[in-house]
Amino acid sequence: MSDHTTTGTDWWRNAVVYQIYPRSFADGNGDGTGDIAGMRARLPYLAELGIDAIWVNPWYRSPLNDGGYDVADYRNIDERFGSIDDAQAFVDEAGGHGIRVIVDLVPNHTSSEHAWFQAALAAGPGSPERERYHFLPGRGDDGELPPSDWTSVFGGRAWERCPDGEWYLHLFDSTQPDLNWEHPEVRAEFESILRFWLDRGVAGFRVDVAHALAKHPDYEDVGDRDQRDGPRWTEGHPFWDRDEIHPIIRSWRRVLDEYDDRMMVAEAWVRADRRPLYLRPDEYHQAFDFEFLSADWDAEQFGGIIEQSTTAARDVGSNPTWVLSNHDVVRHATRYGLPGGTDSAAWLLDGPHHLLDAEQGHRRARAAALLTLALPGSAYVYQGEELGLPEAWDLSTDVLDDPVWTDSGHRRKGRDGCRVPIPWEATGPSLGFGDAEGWLPQPVGYAALAAAVQHDDDGSTLNLYRSALRIRREHFTADFDITMIDLGADVLAFERGNGARCVVNMGAVPIAIPEGVVLLASAPLDDGELPADAAVWLADH
Ligand code: GLC
Repeated sequence: MSDHTTTGTDWWRNAVVYQIYPRSFADGNGDGTGDIAGMRARLPYLAELGIDAIWVNPWYRSPLNDGGYDVADYRNIDERFGSIDDAQAFVDEAGGHGIRVIVDLVPNHTSSEHAWFQAALAAGPGSPERERYHFLPGRGDDGELPPSDWTSVFGGRAWERCPDGEWYLHLFDSTQPDLNWEHPEVRAEFESILRFWLDRGVAGFRVDVAHALAKHPDYEDVGDRDQRDGPRWTEGHPFWDRDEIHPIIRSWRRVLDEYDDRMMVAEAWVRADRRPLYLRPDEYHQAFDFEFLSADWDAEQFGGIIEQSTTAARDVGSNPTWVLSNHDVVRHATRYGLPGGTDSAAWLLDGPHHLLDAEQGHRRARAAALLTLALPGSAYVYQGEELGLPEAWDLSTDVLDDPVWTDSGHRRKGRDGCRVPIPWEATGPSLGFGDAEGWLPQPVGYAALAAAVQHDDDGSTLNLYRSALRIRREHFTADFDITMIDLGADVLAFERGNGARCVVNMGAVPIAIPEGVVLLASAPLDDGELPADAAVWLADH
C-alpha cells in the first residue's frame, strides 16, 4: 500500500475520490468504448496523481440507453466493459496501489431489459410481477390519460402506456422503469446486491438519485409545484425527497456496518437545509454538495455555501463533500467561462456561444481546484478535470447519445459534452484513448491537453493537481477546522486549524498576497500580487 492511504474506518472524511466514467476513460480493446482493461492500464497514472479512492460509474450489464444508469443485471458487468473477473481484478489492483473503489448503486429504477421488468410486462395487469414497479390504470374514460401529471427529468411525461392499457412510471427515460420501494422483494434484492459488491471488496457506493426512491402512495398530482428537484423543491412533493426514504437508507447502513470501513455517498439534489437529514449518523456517510457545484464565480456566494455546508455537516457528525463537475453537468472549465447566472445546460444549444471566455474559464478552473482541495472534508474529481478539459460544447447533434436530447424533443442537448473520451496522447485516432476512434469525437483542443503532453510540463494543470494532492495531505487534512478571513468582497479566504490558508481572488484586479510562505499557486505570482481568477496556498513557515 502506498504511504498516502487514508486508513481507518473514517478514511472517507477527507478522501479525494476520482470519478471514472468507464465508457470514456480508456479503451483497452480498441472498439471505441472505454473498458475495465483500459482502467486497469491507467491505474499507475491515478496512483501518481495521488487520489485515495475511485468512484466507478455503472459498469453493469445494460443496454446503455442512459450510459449504464439503466441496469439490466446488477451482479454482472456489461460485456463492452469486460467481465466480473475484470472488475474483481480492478478492485484488487487498485487496492494494491492503496486506492479504494466505490461502485454506483442505481436503486430508483432498472432497465426495461431487467428480468423483473420483462416478467412484469409478460405477466399482465394485476399480477404480482407488476407490483415491483409502479403499474397503474390510466385516467379518462378508457384509461387513455396518464395516472398523474408527473413529468420525466429528461422531458415529456413520466408514464408510458403498455399495449395492454396499463401505464408504468419512469422518472427518467421510458427504458428506466421506477421500482416500487414499498415492495419487500425490492428491499431484499438491494440488500443482497450491496452484499454482493461488499463481498468483492468495494469500499462503498455512490447512490443514484437518492432522493427519488419514495413516491406518494396515491400518486398525487404535482400541480402548481415544481416538477424539478434541487433547490426548487417544496414540502410534501409527491416524488422528490419524501420522508419515507430515510428508513430505506437506514436499512442499507445496517448492511454496510456489518463490514469494517465501507461508506456510501448520496446523489441527492435536495435543498441545502434538507441534506443533513441524509447525513445522520445511521444514514449516508456523505452527500455531494451541489450548491458548491452550482455557485457562480462570486466570493460571497462561495463563502456563504462553505460556511453553511461545513456547519450543517458537522452538526450531524459528517463532513462536507465538495464537487465541481461530474458526468451530468457542463465541465467547470467551461461553466466558469460563461457570465454569472448563465444556465450552462441550456447554453449548449441556445448560446449565444460568443459569450464563452475559454481562457477565463481555464484560469478559474485552476483556482477552483485549489479552493476545493483546501477545504475541510472530502473532494470528488471528475475524470479529465485534472487535465483542465473544457466541455465539448459544440458536438454536432447527429452524434448525440444522451436520451435527454430525444426525450426533451431536441430542446436540450444533454450531457455528452462532458463525457467525451479522455485524451491521453497528442496523436492517434482518439488521442491515446484507444486504437480506434472513440464513441464520441474529441474537440481539436483536446490534443494539447493530453495527459502525456502535460506530464512533463511543470506549469500544467495535471501537475497543479498532483502538487495540490501531495501538499493537501500534509497541510489541509490534519483536522476539519476552518475560519473564514475577510479580505474584501471579491476575495474568498480561509484558514485551516493548523494555520494553512487558501486565498482565492474572484475579483477583476490583482490583490496583495497576505504574508506567509507560498505552498502552491494556480497562476504565476508577480510582485507579491495574486492575479484575478487565481488562488494561492500559504503556510506560516
Ligand atoms: C443520476 C445520474 C444520471 C442519470 C440519472 C438517472 O442523476 O447521475 O447520469 O441519468 O441519475 O439514473
